[in-house]
Amino acid sequence: MAQQVQGVIARAKGAPVSIETITVPDPGPGEAVVKIQACGVCHTDLHYREGGINDEFPFLLGHEAAGIVESVGAGVNEVAPGDFVVLNWRAVCGQCRACLRGRPQYCFDTHNAKQKMTLADGTELSPALGIGAFAEKTLVAAGQCTKVDPAASPAAAGLLGCGVMAGIGAAINTGNVTRGDSVAVIGCGGVGNAAVVGALLAGASKIIAVDIDDKKLETARTLGATHTVNSRATDPIEAVRGLTGGFGADVVIEAVGRPETYEQAFYARDLAGTVVLVGVPTPEMRLDLPLLDVFGRGGALKSSWYGDCLPSRDFPMLIDLYLQGRLDLDAFVTETIGLADVEKAFERMHHGDVLRSVVMF
Ligand code: APR
Ligand code: ZN
Ligand code: ZN
Repeated sequence: MAQQVQGVIARAKGAPVSIETITVPDPGPGEAVVKIQACGVCHTDLHYREGGINDEFPFLLGHEAAGIVESVGAGVNEVAPGDFVVLNWRAVCGQCRACLRGRPQYCFDTHNAKQKMTLADGTELSPALGIGAFAEKTLVAAGQCTKVDPAASPAAAGLLGCGVMAGIGAAINTGNVTRGDSVAVIGCGGVGNAAVVGALLAGASKIIAVDIDDKKLETARTLGATHTVNSRATDPIEAVRGLTGGFGADVVIEAVGRPETYEQAFYARDLAGTVVLVGVPTPEMRLDLPLLDVFGRGGALKSSWYGDCLPSRDFPMLIDLYLQGRLDLDAFVTETIGLADVEKAFERMHHGDVLRSVVMF
């Protein structure tokens, strides 16, 4: 039986979100219905509301979530009703060229539910990142559900579904940060601070946090940054070089998504070091670099999509570390809120007041 639940809808470009009754169909083949317990508020949700992703309104927002599988469709064996799962927005196919070459993070054919959730008048909804988890229940592809240890708090677990995974993965998967490395992180919001934590997990010897906001730098320090640089006051390239014997960091992680910070990341790395780009620029942004520097400085420039994560490998591992007290996911939960507070959370995000607001059900 299809079910009616409450969900947060963005109906039109720039309009405030509304809470509406939506219909969630029974799961079809390869699908699952998940009862959401917690869902973080991410910039991408706001971006959808502002029409910055595509024009396929109305959107059912929310994509950083954990919950309990309620029911599964035919042929589903990844998860079963009652499982505690973290949702992911890149359920890989396992069969395309990228998957077969061992690069599933570039999968061409990621899975989402085939059926659509609808508004009361039958209008089909576009779920944010194929998830739509600012709702009591949502319909996803079974491959979007990753079973993790149910001892974890849903608010903390859900964060792995997007921003925190992107940051930790930028350090450990894309940057391959290794024991003893020096790491600089430019931009210490939710993603950058997660990169700080990833660098700490990987055994970095120095973790230099760079931001223009002292509050963010303080948080970075509590999470494991060994040095902080306010790049409004100090040239971050010089500062990072100064802190690394004049060389630059082995790995620099850019988590802002702007030309000036891309350029800072490029020059703050050691010769033959790695720059990891996790901040997402807008289409009109350009970077103008002397080619001789691009050639002469060696090393690697790598972009990191979703922290190059493999949810089935990374989510359970990170939850285990969390439960052992080795990964402080709770530090990223600035506040827990209700479904009606998403609009307010967008405002707080705008002012840079929070790492994450998390909707609890
Ligand atoms: N130099 C340094 N830090 C900056 C600068 C700058 N010029 N401009 C902004 N910042 C800092 C902000 O102060 C903030 O702490 O960058 C941080 C951005 O953090 P959030 O706004 O919380 O964004 P976050 O969710 O962390 O995402 C960062 O990663 O995945 C991408 O799409 C995401 O592009 C976005 C980026
Ligand atoms: Zn694939
Ligand atoms: Zn997100």
